[in-house]
Amino acid sequence: MVNEISLNSAKELEEIKEINHKNFSNKLEFYLNGTCVELENPDPDTTLLQYIRSIGLTGTKLGCAEGGCGACTVLISSYDSTTQRIVNSSVNACLAPLCSIDGRHVITIEGIGSSHNPHPVQERIALLHGSQCGFCTPGIAMSLYALLRNNPEPSEKEIEECFDGNLCRCTGYRPILDAAKTFASTSKPISRDNQIGDEKHIDSNGCCDNKKQEKTSQTKGCGRENCCQLSGKVEELVIFDEFPKYKLKRYDSSQELIFPPSLMKRVPKPLSFIGRKTKWFRPINLDQLLDLKRVYPNAKLVSGNTEVGIETKFKKLKYPIQIYVGEVKALQSWEFGDFGLTIGANITLSKFQQVLQDACKHYKPHQTQVFQAILNNLRWFAGNQIRNVATPAGNIVTGSPISDLNPIFLATNTFFTLTSSSPTTINDSDNENKNRRMIPSEEFWTGYRKTILAEQEILEKIFVPCSNENEFVRAYKQAKRRDDDIAIVNAALRVALDKDHLVQDVCLAFGGMSGVSLRATQAEGFVKGRKWGDEKVLQELLETTLQELQLNFSAPGGMASYRRSLAAGFIYKFWHDIGTRIGLYTSENNSNNSSIIKEELTEIIEREISQGVQSFGRPEDGKNHVGKSIPHASALKQVTGEAVYLDDIPKVHGELYGALLLSQEPHAKILSIDASEALAQLGVHGFFSAKDIPGENKWGPIFHDEEVFASTEVYCVGQIIGLIVADTQTLAQEAVRLVKVKYERLPYILTIEEAIDKQSFFPNERQIVRGDLDYAFNEADYIFEGSSRIGGQEHFYLETQASLVIPKPEDHEFEVHASTQNPTETQIVLASVLGIRANKVVCRVKRLGGGFGGKETRSIPLTAALVVGAWHLKRPIRCMLDRDEDMMITGQRHPALGRWRISMSKDGKIKGLDLDIYMNAGWSSDLSTAVLDRAMTHADNCYYIANMRVRGKICKTNIHSNTAFRGFGGPQGMMIMENIINEVADSMGISVDTLREINLYKEGQKTHFNQLLIDWHIPQLYQQLKKTSDFEKRRNQVDSYNASHKWRKRGLAFVPTKFGLSYTALHLNQAGALVHLYQDGSVLVSHGGVEMGQGLHTKILQIAAETLSVPLDQIHIMETSTNTVANTSATAASVSSDINGYAVANACQKLAERLRPYREKIPNASFEEICRAAYFDRVNLSANGFYKTPDIGYSWEKNEGQMFYYFTMGAAVTEIELDLLTGDHTILRTDLCMDIGRSLNYAIDIGQIEGGFVQGVGWCTIEESLFFPNGQLFTRGPGNYKIPGFRDIPQDFRVSTYQGAQYPHLKTIHSSKGVGEPPLFLGSSVFFAIRDAIKAGRQVNFSNYYLSHGYFAQANSINEIVRLSSPATPERIRMACIDHISKAAFVSRKEDEKPWILMA
Ligand SMILES: Cc1cc2nc3c(=O)[nH]c(=O)nc-3n(C[C@H](O)[C@H](O)[C@H](O)COP(=O)(O)OP(=O)(O)OC[C@H]3O[C@@H](n4cnc5c(N)ncnc54)[C@H](O)[C@@H]3O)c2cc1C
Ligand code: FES
Ligand code: FES
Repeated sequence: MVNEISLNSAKELEEIKEINHKNFSNKLEFYLNGTCVELENPDPDTTLLQYIRSIGLTGTKLGCAEGGCGACTVLISSYDSTTQRIVNSSVNACLAPLCSIDGRHVITIEGIGSSHNPHPVQERIALLHGSQCGFCTPGIAMSLYALLRNNPEPSEKEIEECFDGNLCRCTGYRPILDAAKTFASTSKPISRDNQIGDEKHIDSNGCCDNKKQEKTSQTKGCGRENCCQLSGKVEELVIFDEFPKYKLKRYDSSQELIFPPSLMKRVPKPLSFIGRKTKWFRPINLDQLLDLKRVYPNAKLVSGNTEVGIETKFKKLKYPIQIYVGEVKALQSWEFGDFGLTIGANITLSKFQQVLQDACKHYKPHQTQVFQAILNNLRWFAGNQIRNVATPAGNIVTGSPISDLNPIFLATNTFFTLTSSSPTTINDSDNENKNRRMIPSEEFWTGYRKTILAEQEILEKIFVPCSNENEFVRAYKQAKRRDDDIAIVNAALRVALDKDHLVQDVCLAFGGMSGVSLRATQAEGFVKGRKWGDEKVLQELLETTLQELQLNFSAPGGMASYRRSLAAGFIYKFWHDIGTRIGLYTSENNSNNSSIIKEELTEIIEREISQGVQSFGRPEDGKNHVGKSIPHASALKQVTGEAVYLDDIPKVHGELYGALLLSQEPHAKILSIDASEALAQLGVHGFFSAKDIPGENKWGPIFHDEEVFASTEVYCVGQIIGLIVADTQTLAQEAVRLVKVKYERLPYILTIEEAIDKQSFFPNERQIVRGDLDYAFNEADYIFEGSSRIGGQEHFYLETQASLVIPKPEDHEFEVHASTQNPTETQIVLASVLGIRANKVVCRVKRLGGGFGGKETRSIPLTAALVVGAWHLKRPIRCMLDRDEDMMITGQRHPALGRWRISMSKDGKIKGLDLDIYMNAGWSSDLSTAVLDRAMTHADNCYYIANMRVRGKICKTNIHSNTAFRGFGGPQGMMIMENIINEVADSMGISVDTLREINLYKEGQKTHFNQLLIDWHIPQLYQQLKKTSDFEKRRNQVDSYNASHKWRKRGLAFVPTKFGLSYTALHLNQAGALVHLYQDGSVLVSHGGVEMGQGLHTKILQIAAETLSVPLDQIHIMETSTNTVANTSATAASVSSDINGYAVANACQKLAERLRPYREKIPNASFEEICRAAYFDRVNLSANGFYKTPDIGYSWEKNEGQMFYYFTMGAAVTEIELDLLTGDHTILRTDLCMDIGRSLNYAIDIGQIEGGFVQGVGWCTIEESLFFPNGQLFTRGPGNYKIPGFRDIPQDFRVSTYQGAQYPHLKTIHSSKGVGEPPLFLGSSVFFAIRDAIKAGRQVNFSNYYLSHGYFAQANSINEIVRLSSPATPERIRMACIDHISKAAFVSRKEDEKPWILMA
C-alpha cells in the first residue's frame, strides 16, 4: 500500500520527536462480540462498518453511510472510569472510525444470538412479524438491544424513542413496536395479533400471560396498572386457537455478554496510525491534544465524526491529519457553578442530555429555563445513534446555519472557552500555561460555516448560564419530519420582563434564516421597553421581524415564504406562551379560554404511544397450511444477520470492484472522455465505455431507447457513461473521479410543465373513451375544472442496487447475482449486450432488501455495465451502489399532473369527466407507457362515470428514467380522482362523503374501460368501515374541536380504493415452477418470483405444503434463478403469489398424483418412506408447473375485453391534527379495511397492508423528490429525503380484512387476492384529512379578524377552494392555511428569479 503521508518539514520532525516521547502506540485494541482484537496500524479512513463486514460479520448492513437509516447499528460499550460505570451506546457503524474504538467492546448482531439460539429481542421481532425484507432488521434489533442493556425494564415511551435513528421501508413499523413493547415494564397485551394464542408466554412482561379470563366481580388482575383483565382490553384480542402458539423466551438481562474486565483496568495510551491518505492521532489528555494542534495547526479534530464523516464521504473533503479527541477526559467533564453549568465541549449529546436533566434538579426552577430549552431541542436532534457520539463542540465549530444548538447559545449569553497551547509549554501539563480566552457565543460565528477559532485553538469548554427570575427562554424547531431531521427553521427566544411586564432584555435568535445563526436585532430593539401582552406590540414585533428577516424567492434552502412564516410563527407562539405564564390571555379574541391558547400555541403536537389492532379472517376449514399466519420463512435468519443479501456474498476468487462514471449534465454532447489519469492509478484494471460493448448497446424493457453506456450524448444527470474497475471499492471510486469528460451543453427540460410547454412527449399517446362527452357537458348543471399536481417518490429500498458478475472460463458463460425483481429480463439484456445467447447467462437472486418496483428494470443498467467489464477482464466484478448514486441513477415514481373538466348534475351525480394525465417519464421510456396505462385505468377510482375520456401523455424530460413503483401509476390516477371529488364537493357546497356515496360503483356496473364489476364489495365495505370507525360521531367531534380551536385543527377523511390485478401486458401473465422431491422426503421448490420481503416464498411454501400434504419444514426454496425456471415475468403487479402459486400448485399436484398410489398402498408411511418407495419404483419425482391467467385480454383500440382478472379493494378513514402555525401534523387514528379474499397468510398480508399504507403516507406527506435547476437531484439520501419513521405512523392504527364476503367469481389460488400494491393509495386518506383540516383553518377568517384590528393585508384567498399539491409537506400545508402571518411572510417571485429547487 502506498503511504501518501510524509512528514515534510524538519521543524515538524523536531516537534514530533517531542510529542513522541509520550509513547504514541500504533496498536488498536478492542473487543468484538466478547473476543479481543488487536490491529497493527489500521487505516484511519476505515469505518467500523467496513471493518466488521470485511471480516465476515455481514449482519450489520450498509443502508446509507450517512447516519440516516440505522441499518448499521451496533452496540459500543465503554467503561467510564470517573463514574465507574459501563456505558452502552447504540452507534452508527457507518460513521464510526475504526480507530475510534480503542478500549471499547463492540457488539454486533451476530454477538447477541443466532437463528438456532436467538436473543429474545431477535426472537420476538421475527415471530411477531417485525421483519419483511429484513435489511433494516439487524439495526432495529440492535437499537432495542442497546436500550435493554441500559434499562431492562423500559417504558413503552422509551421503547418508541429508542428507534428514532432507524428506518424500515417495509413493515409500517407497527409489528416491530408490538414486538418491542413486550419488553416494556408496563406492557399491554400484544395479542391483538392472531399469532399469539392463549398459551402465549412472554415472560413476566406479558400482562396476565395474556390468559383470557371472564371478567367477574372477583377479577383482581395481575397487579399491573391497566391490567388487561381489569380494563377489559382483553376483549379486543383476537385469538384463534388453531394458530401456532409460540413460547417466547424470557428476557434475562443477567445472561448478556459481559463487559470485558480487562478493558476496565486498561489504561488508555496515546495512539497514532498512518494510513494511505490519513494520519490519525489519539491524544489522551488536553496537553497532548494542544501540543498536536500546535504542531499540526491544520489538523482536523474528530469527535463523533458525524459531520467530518459526511464531509469526507459525500463532499469529498480531504483531512490528511486528524486528531481524535474522544479520549481527552477534560473535554467531557461538567460542573454546576453558582451562575451556570460548564461542560467540556466534547461531551456526547446523550451525556449532555443527562447532565441538563440533573441541572434542572440541581438549580432552582427559575434558573433552568436555558437548560430546558436545550433539552427541548436535543430531543429532536438526530437519532439516538448520532446523539450517542456527536458533541456540542462538533455542532458549534461546524457553524451550520441550521444547527439546533447554536441559536440557543446565541440567545442565552453562553460563553465558549477557546484554548491553545502556549508555545513555551510543550511539556508542561500545568493548566496555567495554556492560552485560554472566553468569548461570548455571538462573537464566535463569522460567516457561513466560519468561526473565529484560530488555527491552533480548540473549543474546550462551554459555559451555559442559569436564567434569572422573570426571564423566559424557549426553543423551537420545525423540520419536514419530527424525528431525526435537520431543521428548516429553528429559534431560541429569550425575554426578561419587569413586574409591569415591560421588556427589560430580549434576544430573538434564529437558524435557517441566513448563512449563519442570527439575531433579529432590530426586532429586539423594537420590543425592548414595551409591554408584553399588548396586541399592537405583538403585531408590530411580527412586522419588524419580517422586515428584518428578508429572504429572496431563490434564497439557498428555498421555501422563502415558509421560512419567514415559521420565524414569525415562533415569535407568535413565544408571545402567547410567556403571556400565559405571566397570567395574561385569560381569553383571546374574547372567546377561547386560556388552556386552549396554551395547548394550541405553546405545545408542539405530541403523540400518544402507538397502538394497533388487527382483525382478520381465519383459514378455511380443512386447510392445514394455507391461511395460517406463519412468520416470514427467513425472519429468524434476517434478524440474526444470517440472511445473505447480495453484498454479503463472500468475495469470489479474483474479484474486482466497479465504479460507474456518471453524467454530470442533464443534456449534453459528449466531446471527449479521458480516463488516462484514472488508469494510471495503482490497482486500477480498466475503463470501459460504449466502444467496448461486444454486442448491443441499446436496450429497454419495452422500447429499446436506452444505451448501457452513453455513446455520443447524455440525457440526464446520473446517466451511465462508463465503468472503472479496480482492486477495491475505494480505489475504483477514487479513480472514477479522475476521469475527465468534456461536454457541450444542450437545452434541457426538467418538469412536466416545461415538457407541456415545449411539447416534449414520448410518441405513445393513449386514450380511453366511454359514452358521450359532448352530451355530458351540454347537459351539465355544473361544470368545474382544475388540475392536480403530484410529486415523485423515491423507492428507498434499504438495500441499494447491487450486482456480482462472474465470468466462467468455459464457453463465455456468465453467472450473475443481481438485486433484481426481474432475473429473466436481466439475463436477456446481458446476453444481448455481450452478443451471446441467453442460455449462457444464469441470473440468480437469493433475496432483495426491498424492491417496491425500483428493481424491476432499473437494476439492469448496473449489471449490464459490470458485465462489459467482466467480459474484457475475465474477472468477477461487484458493485453495490452508494445511496446517493442509487437515488440519482435508478429512477422513481412518476410525478404526475392531471388537468380535468367535470360535468355534474344538481343532485351530485358525475355526468362526465374529461381528464388529461401527464407523467414525467424522464429521459427514457422504460415502463412509462405501462405506468400511464394503469394511471388511466385507475383514474375512476371507485366512481361510476358514464361519460369519460381520459388521455395520457408521457413527458420526455432530462431527469432520471422514472419507473415502476408500488401501485405502478394507479395511485397517481386515483389521487387525481380523489382531488376532483374533494374540489367538486367544496365547489358545490356539499359534503365530500355524500358526493362520494352518490357516485360509488355498484355491483354489475362497468368501469370506463368496460370491465364488469363482479364480486364488488366496496359499497358494503364502505358502510361497514363507516360504522366500525364511528365515522359520523367522529365527524361531529372533529367539527366541534375545530370550532373551539383556532390554531390547531383536526381533519377527517374517508378514502376508498380499487386496484386491478394482472399485468396490463397480456404476455406477462404467466408463470412456471419446478419442484423436486428427494428420497429423504425433502422438497425443493423453484418458481419465477423473487423474495423481496413481501413473504412470497413463505406463501409458496404454504401452497406447496398444502398441495403435497407435507410439513412445512420439509420444503425449501433456495433462490430464484433463470436456469431452474425460465422466461419468468418480473415479480411485480401484486400477482406473484397468484401466478407463481398456481404454477407451484400445478407441479405439486402432478407429484401428489404420482405419489397417490403409494399413499394408498402404505397409508401410515412417512413422506420420506413414500418418496423412497416411489423412487425405487422409478417414478419421476420432479415436475414442472405452469400457469397462465385466463379470461383477460383488453383491446385499447376497441375499449373492450377484460383488462384485469379481478380487483382488490378497500377503504381507510384517517383523522389528523394540524398545527396551523407550523404545518406540523400527526395522524391520530386510521381505520383501514381491505378485501383481500381468503388470504394465504393473514399475518403477511396485514404486513403488506400496513407497510403499503405507511409508504403511501410518505408519498403524499413528507417524501419530496427535488431537483436543482441545473438538473442535479437535490434529495440524494436520508438526510434530505425523508421517509416515514417509527413515530409517523397512525397513533391508533386499526387494520382489518373484509369478512364474510362471498367470491362466486374469484378463481385465484385458494381464493386469495394480491395485496402488495392496493393498500398504498389509502395513505392518501392522510393527505385528504390534512386538506380537511386546512379547510377548517381557512374558515376561521383570520384576515377579516385582523383587518378589523387594522393589521396586515387583504383577506382574499380565504374562501378559495383548497388546492393542495402532493406531497402535503409542512411547507405546503402552512402556506395553504393562509392567515395574516403567512400573508405577511409571503415572498413573491421576481421576474427571471429561478427557484432554488424544484419538483419535476
Ligand atoms: C444523521 C445526522 C443527523 C443530524 N442531525 C442533526 C440535527 O438534528 N441537528 C443539528 O444541529 N445537527 C445535526 N447533525 C449534524 C452533526 O451531527 C452535529 O453537528 C454534531 O453535533 C457534530 O458533532 P461531532 O462530534 O460528530 O462532530 P465531528 O464531526 O467530530 O466534528 C465536527 C467539526 O467540529 C470540529 N471539532 C470537534 N470538536 C472540536 C473541539 N473541541 N474544538 C474545535 N473543533 C472541534 C471538528 O474539527 C469538525 O470541524 C446531524 C448529522 C447526522 C449525520
Ligand atoms: S448505513 Fe449507517 S445509518 Fe445508514
Ligand atoms: S423489513 Fe425493514 S426495510 Fe425491509
